[in-house]
Amino acid sequence: MERIYIKDLSNFVGQEVIIKGWVDNRRDHGKLIFLDIRDISGFVQAVALPNNEETRKKADNLRPEWIVEIGGQVNERPAKMINPDQENGHLEMSIEKIEVINKAETLPFDIESAGHEINEEIRLKYRYLDLRRKRLKKNIINRHQVFKFIRDYLDQEGFVEIETPILSKSTPEGARDYVVPSRIDKGSFYALPQSPQQYKQLLMVAGFEKYFQFARCLRDEDTRGDRQPEFTQLDMEMSFVTQEDILSLIEGMFTEMIKKIYPHKKISQKPWPRLDHTDVMEKYGTDKPDIRKDKNDPNELAFCWIVNFPLFEAELTDGHFAPEHHMFTAPKEEDVAKLDTDPALCRSQQHDLVLNGYEVGGGSIRIHNPAIQRKIFDLIGFDEKDKQAFEHMLTAFRYGVPPHGGIAPGMDRLLMILENEPNIREVMAFPKTGEGRDLMMNSPAEISKEQLKELGLK
Ligand code: AMO
Repeated sequence: MERIYIKDLSNFVGQEVIIKGWVDNRRDHGKLIFLDIRDISGFVQAVALPNNEETRKKADNLRPEWIVEIGGQVNERPAKMINPDQENGHLEMSIEKIEVINKAETLPFDIESAGHEINEEIRLKYRYLDLRRKRLKKNIINRHQVFKFIRDYLDQEGFVEIETPILSKSTPEGARDYVVPSRIDKGSFYALPQSPQQYKQLLMVAGFEKYFQFARCLRDEDTRGDRQPEFTQLDMEMSFVTQEDILSLIEGMFTEMIKKIYPHKKISQKPWPRLDHTDVMEKYGTDKPDIRKDKNDPNELAFCWIVNFPLFEAELTDGHFAPEHHMFTAPKEEDVAKLDTDPALCRSQQHDLVLNGYEVGGGSIRIHNPAIQRKIFDLIGFDEKDKQAFEHMLTAFRYGVPPHGGIAPGMDRLLMILENEPNIREVMAFPKTGEGRDLMMNSPAEISKEQLKELGLK
């Protein structure tokens, strides 16, 4: 007989079926033994009746988290036994057959609760058990729903999903790189991408016009609640667009997504306010203001855009400038002349997306004029060797580059807020600790002498 998913059992009332899953709970009521069985789709109560000695004995031996196959008849519960608060609370399976597929040792921690009270290192060490928890399963499945919504939406809008390399070269996002030694070219290293910034701009040179990807980004920086060494961006780039086009696309897409997947959430202001960087710094003292009306309301979503950033962070002691966003961000057209006269006053076409006090996205209109790009390289103090490292961008721009711009929402941060979680680890399947360790795989780890030798490393 074919296995039936628990969520479909209500279509089989009066029939014999087979379900497979985990023993969620066993309750011995003397004559009757109740088993709660769970699979990915749901939860149902099964009962071993006294008239079937063999199944009763087997049911008696079962323990939580054992994996079983249960055969039996799906019945409506008698009216007084219906539990409207329980999944399948109107149904019950009367057990005809029990087969133990696999036993399980007692778990190292409780998986019934939301789990916030359990030591996180233990939860991360046994992440595959932690993920059996309802709360985490919900987070991961909702994450899938959000990704699927976005993928479908952008497909409808004419975007092409394109993967870019992980074995790459240093990128200018300003964090430290993770590096990978080359075996063939000893002493040379790949860098893992801090973001696909250059690739996505080169895809615009290639003429794709609308690109997106759920891009894994790797940054060797100190981990915090809203920061992981590897995280996922919804990376996007578009040709022939204005900043306003980018903002309204994201605003429309996220609004629809929230309506569909988080209908209980309320976006406090529509359209999302567009705030001037100088005003925001003056009023809130931060460029990620939390503009919720009621900070105790877990369902309020206060999005805002921050625009009119300065192009440079500050003048460095050596007279050079550090880019506020990154070196490909375009100055505002009316400020281009200031690059020669007063770069510190030059504003840019950067846009940050802020939600409830978190930066959940950043992007900009890019420079598509090689002369301006060179000027920026000079202002940030690039020497010939630095310039050489980005020569491929300038070369590419010689062959017809459309004006372009983009954005990269941080999906982990966005999901953390949508799921009311205190940190991004709760919305990632296999996150790392604050020290960047994977406690389950126990990495980073040493590699063998042979591997080192092969790579030409000591
Ligand atoms: P930026 O560096 O601003 O821009 O990153 C975009 C968004 O990614 C998220 N983010 C992070 N999330 C979790 N852990 C981290 N360590 C982390 N670092 C960043 C944030 C942030 O807003 N290439 C540009 C985008 C562009 O210009 O289109 C970029 O990476 O939510």
